[in-house]
Amino acid sequence: MLVVPNLKTLFISILFFAGYTISILLFFQLLLVGVRGARSYYPLPRKLNENKKQPLQTSRPYNIAHRGSNGEIPEETKAAYLRAIEEGADFIETDILSSKDGVLVCFHDVILDDTTDVANYTKFANRKRTYEVQGFNTTGYFVVDFTLEELKSLRVKQRYSFRDQQYNWKFSIITFEEFISIGLDANRTVGIYPEIKNPVFINQHVKWADGKRFEDKFVETLKKYGYKGSYMSQDWLEKPLFIQSFAPTSLIYISNLTNSPKVLLIDDISMPTQDTNQSYWEITSDSYLQFIRNYVVGIGPWKDTIVPVVNNYLKPPSDLVARAHAHKLQVHPYTYRNENQFLHFDFHQDPYAEYIYWVRNIGVDGLFTDFTGSLHQYQEWASPLKNAKSANALLHEISAMITAFEEP
Ligand SMILES: *[C@@H]1O[C@H](CO)[C@@H](O)[C@H](O)[C@H]1NC(C)=O
Ligand SMILES: *[C@@H]1O[C@H](CO)[C@@H](O)[C@H](O)[C@H]1NC(C)=O
Ligand SMILES: *[C@@H]1O[C@H](CO)[C@@H](O)[C@H](O)[C@H]1NC(C)=O
Ligand SMILES: *[C@@H]1O[C@H](CO)[C@@H](O)[C@H](O)[C@H]1NC(C)=O
Ligand SMILES: *[C@@H]1O[C@H](CO)[C@@H](O)[C@H](O)[C@H]1NC(C)=O
Repeated sequence: MLVVPNLKTLFISILFFAGYTISILLFFQLLLVGVRGARSYYPLPRKLNENKKQPLQTSRPYNIAHRGSNGEIPEETKAAYLRAIEEGADFIETDILSSKDGVLVCFHDVILDDTTDVANYTKFANRKRTYEVQGFNTTGYFVVDFTLEELKSLRVKQRYSFRDQQYNWKFSIITFEEFISIGLDANRTVGIYPEIKNPVFINQHVKWADGKRFEDKFVETLKKYGYKGSYMSQDWLEKPLFIQSFAPTSLIYISNLTNSPKVLLIDDISMPTQDTNQSYWEITSDSYLQFIRNYVVGIGPWKDTIVPVVNNYLKPPSDLVARAHAHKLQVHPYTYRNENQFLHFDFHQDPYAEYIYWVRNIGVDGLFTDFTGSLHQYQEWASPLKNAKSANALLHEISAMITAFEEP
């Protein structure tokens, strides 16, 4: 049988060739790193093996890694996002703000005070300001008053004192582009879920030379990395994306710029919308859901407004999820957290019990969680993916194909 050694030789040659190509690529990558030098804030995502990636799962509610795996590692850092990807996130979630010099960065609060070491620098002591943000006077070191270079010089810490403090001061703030690269570089398809954060405030304080506004810059960045396409389209499945905002006018405005799926976030029942000053009741009414359905594929309410809580016990759920579903809107509530501080008594201190309730009883379509690993473990146990081939299974299959050609 002549064909046997030939196939083997061919296979070995392919391996050699692949190795050779990879070394050349690595060489050029090293060159690039050298050329870009120390201030390379925007590492380009790798371009290898894009089409061989394990696809996004779409058969069970989305595991949305809220600010990365921030239950373990300080929020919105590269380390927190990598950990979330490792733990099984379907989407990594982030909040986008702008630096003084117009660079979009990943950071949750409008001020730096609670999660960075900004107060430790005498050179920044005169930066403290009071601005009105969504109807409240807020005092602190505002992200919009710092250049990207200054923001990059800060170090971040864990928000909650009852969480692991060992990673404090180890990581820095990342840019929107760095965040996107982390998602694209994952070794399986991982979506991104960025929020247009405080757009009214950002547009008041940051001006771009080309006259464009925050929302334009936000969409431009996504398009630069190839994010496009309506929900479940081929383009979307390759680079899954949900754009979220509490501001309906921002979502409506960007619906002119991109057909990528959008989600309207809904605040506590006491909070009016930051741009249109509409009440919770107004934006959760049937007529409003009917209207906003033209622009968004879903809503992201706070879970305690769907199922009200009194004395830390659940009351009967509202009809919001049923009405949203009737308007063909997905529901992705926030935020699921493992700690007893956050778990209502009904769940007898068991985060899995909370997931069972929200997935089986309430029937949500996605969950923002601080603990991606826990939600993933729950889902693997409760609804394992039927057709998913593990990397190991694939390896066995390939080795079986090779040994089939071997001479006895
Ligand atoms: C993907 O990366 C994870 C670490 O995040 C690693 O455990 C896993 O083996 C990798 N899988 C493949 C197929 O390379
Ligand atoms: C900043 O100051 C605080 C309070 O004085 C201190 O706990 C913290 O360790 C300092 N951080 C850094 C990075 O020096
Ligand atoms: C914020 O402070 C300014 C200056 O003291 C004051 O004029 C304004 O009314 C305050 N706004 C709110 C919402 O309290
Ligand atoms: C969307 O574009 C159309 C056509 O250019 C324009 O008339 C409309 O005002 C735009 N809508 C928004 C919300 O910007
Ligand atoms: C927002 O709406 C509330 C209730 O209708 C009203 O009292 C308030 O003055 C409005 N605020 C602004 C800034 O328009």
